[in-house]
Amino acid sequence: MCGIIGYIGSEKASPILLKGLFNLEYRGYDSAGMATLNNEIIVCKKGAGKIHDINHKLNFLSLEGTIGIAHNRWATHGGVNDINAHPHFDCSKAIAIVHNGIIENHRELKEALSEHKFESETDSEILAHLIEEELKKGFSFEDAFVNAILKLDGNYAVLAIKAGEEKILAARKGSPLVVGVTDHGIFLSSDIPSFLEWTKKVVYLHDYDIVIAERGGIRIYNLIEGQVSRPIDTVEWDAEQIKKGGFDHYMLKEILDQTETIYRAIQQDIDVVNKIIDEIRKAYGIFFVGCGSSYHACLAGSYLFSKIAETHINVVLASEFENYEHFLRENTLVFAVSQSGETADVLEAVRAAKRSGSKVIGIVNRMGSSLTRESDEFLLMNAGPEICVLSTKTYTSQVALMILLAYALIGRYEEGIQKLKGLYMDIYNLTSRSMREHLKKLAEMLVHKEHIYLIGRGLQFTTALEAALKIKEVSYIHAEAFAGGELKHGPLALIEDGTPVIVFVGEDDEKKILSNANEVKARGGYIIGVSAERHDIFDYWIKVPEGGDLNPIVQIIPMQILAYKLAVLKGLDPDKPRNLAKSVTVI
Ligand code: M6R
Repeated sequence: MCGIIGYIGSEKASPILLKGLFNLEYRGYDSAGMATLNNEIIVCKKGAGKIHDINHKLNFLSLEGTIGIAHNRWATHGGVNDINAHPHFDCSKAIAIVHNGIIENHRELKEALSEHKFESETDSEILAHLIEEELKKGFSFEDAFVNAILKLDGNYAVLAIKAGEEKILAARKGSPLVVGVTDHGIFLSSDIPSFLEWTKKVVYLHDYDIVIAERGGIRIYNLIEGQVSRPIDTVEWDAEQIKKGGFDHYMLKEILDQTETIYRAIQQDIDVVNKIIDEIRKAYGIFFVGCGSSYHACLAGSYLFSKIAETHINVVLASEFENYEHFLRENTLVFAVSQSGETADVLEAVRAAKRSGSKVIGIVNRMGSSLTRESDEFLLMNAGPEICVLSTKTYTSQVALMILLAYALIGRYEEGIQKLKGLYMDIYNLTSRSMREHLKKLAEMLVHKEHIYLIGRGLQFTTALEAALKIKEVSYIHAEAFAGGELKHGPLALIEDGTPVIVFVGEDDEKKILSNANEVKARGGYIIGVSAERHDIFDYWIKVPEGGDLNPIVQIIPMQILAYKLAVLKGLDPDKPRNLAKSVTVI
């Protein structure tokens, strides 16, 4: 959903900003641009395409100056072209801005500025013109910026520079923005990995914060609270974690990381877990909400809570949560599950819950994200940065936390910990070279198929849903999951000679799912079994250990690899699927 970065310091800005852009590429990759302050004037280069190509064409490093801002775009308003790429300018080209978010009232604001010449179709450009207008009234750059920000409806993380002013101004509301503090300067960015190479010291900004970054440091002013000081935290991630570490793609690296990330997910503060368990016991109605893979983790969680703890959970897509708002009471408990902690739909659900007085528990990977601030309690996944747009390791971390909570609820926390710890060797084998080769062969058979169907029952149904999402988003092959029992209610009509159907078998449902697989086989379907035992009906077999409650973890890993292999065989970039972005900060 766009990434922004700014730097002010003693070093040349453009190389630092360019690295930052590469590190933020997962947030948007349809256009990019950079503006620096050089001898009191602003110089800028921007264009549509991938950063690597734009840089090859325009050479960002030719921009001189030690103050600059840059942007990766994921288009929302206006097509993908050079003009709509950020930075955007006012009429006099004295003010440059970059923006992540959506300015909802940009049309009304634009109408009121009919004398201004707008170049792009974006909502963002309005900000540069609003600042220009305030400057004309005689306000200082800082006051003009604040006055302009006060006119905006919607979400924003913005950075602005002005010719002749040695500073970067920033504001955030609803979109992520953090400050990085180094000896040689200040970073302002959508996300920590963009500057991790230079510093681990960060200041997490709050909504309505305005930052004035100068060479000597920062001042923070909150539009509601006035002058504020925010603590400097140290992040535990290191720069190595955001590098590919010798792998061709982040996706593969992150899939292989899972031997460790499950272990890290279970490193929780027992007091926080106990507090959450108390809340669950007291609650009248529990909701799990999330989007995409996080929603699938919620769904797996509901089966796990039912199976392990005999506790009923309502699972709702965050984007649909408003339809359930009237069920919320003070003693309702809402779990908001999100890797980024910045997904707009999830944050909307959190705010709806808080409006009704309900308690919110976050399950989140990003410390300092909006979700960590807005929830009453949260558990961190501790999975480290996930750069690939696809959720892989964070999905299994979410499921691990669901398992842990369900065991804690029945007073068997330690048993849950031990079970999850025991996964190490299983994941090691599931991600081994020989397994990857085996899955590559399957990918070679499937790569030209138009449709892949996936079936499972119970917990395995949730894995089928998640596996279908992985395949479709990275390989663009239509993949659709069904509950095994639903086949006869319609989807069987899709099966013809050679239609591939992936069947997830768990010990609880073996008989029933195999009989569903037989229904497919009888109509010519090609059966790919994912199970601990080989069955005659399988045309292709992916051997996984029988994990019981842990099946959502052990069965999804080969599917993540299969999806990866399909993308690579098709010559696609698995880290950056078309039309998608890592952190979806629009509704
Ligand atoms: O950061 P979140 O967990 O809230 O993100 C939710 C979804 O946008 C995310 O899971 C998305 O579906 C991924 N592309 C799945 O691989």
